[in-house]
Amino acid sequence: MSLLLSPYEQGKIHLKNKVVMPPMCMYHADHDGKVTDFHLTHYTARALGGVGLIIVEATAVEPRGRISDNDLGLWDDSQLLGHEKLISHCHAYDAKMAVQLAHAGRKSICKESTPVAPSPLRFSEKSEFKLPHELTLLEIEEVKEHFVQAALRASKAGYDLLELHAAHGYLLCEFLSPLTNKRHDRYGGSLKNRCALVVEIAEAILKAVSLPLIVRVSADEWMKDGWNVHDTIALSLALKEVGVALIHVSAGGNHEQQTMPPLVALYQAAYAKTIRKEAGIATIAVGLITTVNEGEQLLGDETCDLVAYGRELLRNPNFVFFAAKEQGRKELIETSYLRAF
Ligand SMILES: Cc1cc2nc3c(=O)[nH]c(=O)nc-3n(C[C@H](O)[C@H](O)[C@H](O)COP(=O)(O)O)c2cc1C
Repeated sequence: MSLLLSPYEQGKIHLKNKVVMPPMCMYHADHDGKVTDFHLTHYTARALGGVGLIIVEATAVEPRGRISDNDLGLWDDSQLLGHEKLISHCHAYDAKMAVQLAHAGRKSICKESTPVAPSPLRFSEKSEFKLPHELTLLEIEEVKEHFVQAALRASKAGYDLLELHAAHGYLLCEFLSPLTNKRHDRYGGSLKNRCALVVEIAEAILKAVSLPLIVRVSADEWMKDGWNVHDTIALSLALKEVGVALIHVSAGGNHEQQTMPPLVALYQAAYAKTIRKEAGIATIAVGLITTVNEGEQLLGDETCDLVAYGRELLRNPNFVFFAAKEQGRKELIETSYLRAF
């Protein structure tokens, strides 16, 4: 029996299959951060193609938290309508919808704003990366409130789940790492202090909205004396404690000088397995997973609960139909496309 194509149930999460489209920035919004026709076509194509859970790309909780000037946003009520439309288009094909709530921190390359960070350290000497402003305790409270307000808007728009972006060297990830967080207050120093902001935001979101929450992490930052998988287990345990449903396990992105492992199939999957086992929390595996068999293998050996196919779904929005054909499950293929399979 196919594990990949069978439903997933956990609490309020009900997915028709275990294929996840992970968040992927499309840089197709205008400066107002609103959903465009491109987003409607792009995400609806993957919903029509049978994806169980679509996680909409990094969506900024405040303007200076955008990665680029063309990111999506949920910092203003005027942005709601586009998300509502996007969700209703994708729901029509039975895909569940999540949005990744994001703050770019020091990796923002927006032209008109100064990036913010736990400590005033540039990501890179390249000119697009500016020296970030070190957030004060008061400003940290404001950032937390931006996340909560964006979560409330996402809930109002009709999202089924939320994802908190704490990976890839963006603001929340910067707080986690001892290499980018040099603070001496209650958000810096010990592992517990460095994890505090992510845990407090997750807790505040879960208090404000009644949607399941995924947290995306970089399990290892691939730097000597940096954030590692043991730290991620500790963070995952704390997130489980406040009610987070799933950890979406990525890696890297916090340092220009990171030493990446060889980019081979499933290169990040072992982290998902370790976190699932050691923290006792459901995981999503991601990273160079491209085939049906790989997904089945990861689910079968209890590496993860859900499987994310990123670039594969950019190449092939009908990936799920190919999987259904391969497994003799033609009833899962959109009727109008049956003659093509
Ligand atoms: C075009 C593109 C945009 C991406 N944007 C995001 C993003 O918005 N948020 C995020 O957490 N990861 C982002 N990623 C990383 C993907 O979600 C995923 O982790 C990565 O592509 C590895 O998975 P894959 O090998 O299946 O593509 C992006 C990747 C790509 C290729």
